[in-house]
Amino acid sequence: MVLLLRATLLPFMTHKHSDYMHWSKTQSRAPFNLATSGVAPFALRELPIDLKKLEINGDDSYGYAPLQKAIAARHGVDPDCVVEAAGTSMANHLAMAAIVESSDEVLIERPAYGPILDVAHYLQVHVKRFERAEENGWAIDPADLRRCVTSKTRLIVITNLHNPTSVLTPETILREIGDFARSVGAHVLVDEVYLDTVYEGTPRTSFHLGPEFVVTSSLTKIYGVSGLRCGWILAQPELAWKMRRLNDLYSATPVYPGQLLSVAAFKHLDVLREKARRIVEADRELLRWKRGCFPRAPADGIRHLSSPGSLFRNAGTFSHRHGREHRNVR
Ligand SMILES: Cc1ncc(COP(=O)(O)O)c(C=O)c1O
Repeated sequence: MVLLLRATLLPFMTHKHSDYMHWSKTQSRAPFNLATSGVAPFALRELPIDLKKLEINGDDSYGYAPLQKAIAARHGVDPDCVVEAAGTSMANHLAMAAIVESSDEVLIERPAYGPILDVAHYLQVHVKRFERAEENGWAIDPADLRRCVTSKTRLIVITNLHNPTSVLTPETILREIGDFARSVGAHVLVDEVYLDTVYEGTPRTSFHLGPEFVVTSSLTKIYGVSGLRCGWILAQPELAWKMRRLNDLYSATPVYPGQLLSVAAFKHLDVLREKARRIVEADRELLRWKRGCFPRAPADGIRHLSSPGSLFRNAGTFSHRHGREHRNVR
């Protein structure tokens, strides 16, 4: 009887979990751990900081000013546009929740990083998918995306670099997507957590492309300091403020020592990035060498492979199949 009731109510129940995160946290003990998406950890002792200056409590109610300034300076934006968040996960959650209402239409790329879909389902929006086709090198096809946009669309969500293929979406395409969004009063959410693994000619954040762009990122993946949970959102000041207010419902204030260490990490970000770069580039080399294992990987995309979707080498060498079979991709 209870089961029957549950089955009947299921379509009306809120989605309140992520199967991928659960799998990643409980099933990822392996010699070659492919369930983690960050580079090997950067040790605290390698960070040239005076630990005596670390404090437990401080003034950080709606963000720690030095950290907001550091994030803003890194991206060339006003600190008012920076919202601190617990990793890119919380950044994505806050960004989506502040922008959409239940039943709104949200367009999400396919394949996509699973938890982005989970949040969308949790928020009870109407999810529509647009394809990144393998035959098209996993690139976004603006014409296809255009066909999906309706007057009800409130948000278009993409990752750049794309998780899982690492394909870079160029600024010209991002501008087109921005135009579609603007024409119906929607926003474009770009998760840029892997963008800085484009080491030569690193593209600037898409936040600069127009007020409809909202960007999320963090230090958790490609800088080796995931434990700091230093994430952020870039949004226009009014929307940014809405996100800070919304965050009050989730966590009253951030962890102050984490903010101090994050400021220190930003001061030495180039050191962290260079260290990670050696790992990432070695992985990319390995992937090129193992090209035979990736028959479906786009020749162009292989340039960017090794960032998203658990491909970083953190336990020596590995080889595995890449593509749709990834558990974190839906
Ligand atoms: C595209 C993407 N966004 C967000 C996240 C989560 O990031 P964080 O650990 O900063 O919460 C991941 C983790 O794999 C990811 O691949």
